Amino acid sequence: MIRFGIITIFPKIFDSYLKESILKRAAEKKLIGVKIHDLRDFSEDKRKKVDDRPFGGGPGMVMQIQPIIKAVEFAKSKIKSQKSKIKVILFTPSGKQFDNEIAAKLAKNYDNFILICGHYEGIDERVRKVIENSIRQPAEKISIGPYVLTGGELPAMVLIDSVSRKIPGVLGKEESLEEKRFGVGVPAYTRPAEFVYNKKKYKVPKVLLSGDHNKIKEWREKRRGR
Ligand code: ADE
Repeated sequence: MIRFGIITIFPKIFDSYLKESILKRAAEKKLIGVKIHDLRDFSEDKRKKVDDRPFGGGPGMVMQIQPIIKAVEFAKSKIKSQKSKIKVILFTPSGKQFDNEIAAKLAKNYDNFILICGHYEGIDERVRKVIENSIRQPAEKISIGPYVLTGGELPAMVLIDSVSRKIPGVLGKEESLEEKRFGVGVPAYTRPAEFVYNKKKYKVPKVLLSGDHNKIKEWREKRRGR
């Protein structure tokens, strides 16, 4: 089982996605486990504050170190086996660009993830140092794409989805890894073989109906990644 602990100020955001579809089934089959930690629960401030103004001035707010470290410690304490391989990930637009290869490596090399969803103008930089010293492994900064979002919640869900589908058994035979079946982005067709719309016929490429497996393989290989 791969476990994901999510540290967020919007705990409810995750429910609708994780409680549906393939990820729901993966959780039921105990292939993945997701625990959501509300960052405000870890704030030692009377008003449950988790952010403050940046030192040196400037607009916006910065997420404070205290609640995050307390939340990471709590998430870590929920990990039972001492042999677990833990990866802490901080979502930020300035992080390493996430891709399928990183997803595959994460799924292969770790069984516990602590995902920290950033907000505002960022997270106090010292968070990474403290985590590095306490887990003896750097927290990795990851960006989900070359654009700026309002927070790290969507990036966390993207990572959970793409890492989970690499775990054997998460995808059924029906949805088996498309990259294994015939490559990412290869055009796919299903019935009907001919679709008529506004008197025009839209046909499936003949080769796919031919039953000639070598020819089909060749056709797909040519179109891979296009
Ligand atoms: N937070 C805001 N934008 C982000 C991005 N592109 N990737 C990860 N975290 C983010």
